[in-house]
Amino acid sequence: MEISRTKVKDLLQMPAGQRVLAKGWVRTKRGNKEIAFIALNDGSTIKNVQIVVDKNADTEPILAKISTGACIGVEGNLVESVGSGQAVEIHAENITVYGECDPVRYPLQKKDTSFEYLRSVAHMRPRTNTFGAIYRLRSQMAFAIHDYFHSRGFVYVHTPLITASDAEGAGQMFQVTTLDLNNVPKNKKGQPDYSKDFFGKMTSLTVSGQLEGELGATALGEVYTFGPTFRAENSNTPRHLAEFWMIEPEMAFYDINDNMDLAEDFIKSLVKYALNNCYDDIKFLNDRYDNELIERLEGVINTEFVRLEYTEGIEILEKAVADGKVTFEYPISWGVDLQSEHERYLVEKHFNKPVILTGYPKDIKAFYMKQNEDGKTVRAMDVLFPKIGEIIGGSEREASLTKLEKRIDELQMSRKGLEWYLDTRRFGSCPHSGFGLGFERLLLFITGMSNIRDVIPFPRTPKNAEY
Ligand code: 4AD
Ligand code: MG
Repeated sequence: MEISRTKVKDLLQMPAGQRVLAKGWVRTKRGNKEIAFIALNDGSTIKNVQIVVDKNADTEPILAKISTGACIGVEGNLVESVGSGQAVEIHAENITVYGECDPVRYPLQKKDTSFEYLRSVAHMRPRTNTFGAIYRLRSQMAFAIHDYFHSRGFVYVHTPLITASDAEGAGQMFQVTTLDLNNVPKNKKGQPDYSKDFFGKMTSLTVSGQLEGELGATALGEVYTFGPTFRAENSNTPRHLAEFWMIEPEMAFYDINDNMDLAEDFIKSLVKYALNNCYDDIKFLNDRYDNELIERLEGVINTEFVRLEYTEGIEILEKAVADGKVTFEYPISWGVDLQSEHERYLVEKHFNKPVILTGYPKDIKAFYMKQNEDGKTVRAMDVLFPKIGEIIGGSEREASLTKLEKRIDELQMSRKGLEWYLDTRRFGSCPHSGFGLGFERLLLFITGMSNIRDVIPFPRTPKNAEY
């Protein structure tokens, strides 16, 4: 009878002297005339287990079928390893080849292991050490996020992916339709007749779950959403995806300061979780690509984030330009939206730590943000991070119905589609706040990767929706 399989992660912790069965994919095979060494990985850890095979008439034909990428099962004795680098190894007695791997055609056999090349074989890249580590970190961080909120009594609210509202008022949405594009029904004005569409109105993929999150918060107190988000912005940058995941907590009775406190504690807890629970993978990425990764992660945990008004931020940037300390591609003055180069100057050069910027001009922020007394700024907050720029965007929300309606009118948005949202202000309105953390931006920070396409399994970007 076949014994049951043990995962490599567990095998490596076990004492020698037991019979074990390991299954996985061959990373490398090497050896001499008498012995073959196979490094086997099964995805449970960045580490491989070493398989030692005596070469003889029985094993030679099997070894001939085994090359990098092949899938095998190995039964044998777990013995103390004489080689350095591992405590135990498996002395093989029985090898099953589940799937051979053609060394000529195997996409990961190539010399080219650049991230760019690996993106072109994104269906195979999880087989590499680097993407194995990234996938595991992604999964662990998703768990850490749920754990963080659940342990604090937040309710996980599932907000819709298909929506008839444009939460951010920015309009960069992917339309959802079942209309025949070759024969679109038209109304009297010659425009598409959405009453004939699947939902009887124009619908899109959501750009944020916030507005529905607010419905939850104004009933359940503290809620969060965590789901896919879609933006049809044509930004081909290392920090933008057309499909990404966002975590959006929304809390009744939080003002902007409570909101900042939560954001700072949340992100520090996540980084701490990563270091405590995913150290092997982080260490691998640190040693392989980015020697300052662990230092940067520890730095964030141990530092108090700077809290700064937008107006002061602009003054710092203007002074830096005037003093000849920096030149920016995008000019800077009060009223402009900050570009990533500006954000990174503040974080990396001026303060050398994360910055939470508040009090943005109302004209560059969404309609729902709480207006300040000055009539010019709103209680927005962006959390800016080293190497990333904006990692979190949020605000205290405008709780006053009249102010909110006035702002919607000023922006010439349609109130009609937002009546359900305005009901939160009509019936038992309350002060509340929330924010959105881009999951992939968080992962960029935690993995040290520099391109957002490398922290999501199957990236969607302009002109790219493979797999
Ligand atoms: O700043 P944003 O647009 O804020 C909102 O959507 C609010 N409704 C959130 C809220 O208050 N509940 O987006 C929030 C975060 C950004 O800080 C960034 O980390 C990430 O989402 N993000 C993107 N990540 C990857 N690709 C994109 N195209 C992104 N756009 C935003
Ligand atoms: Mg933003």
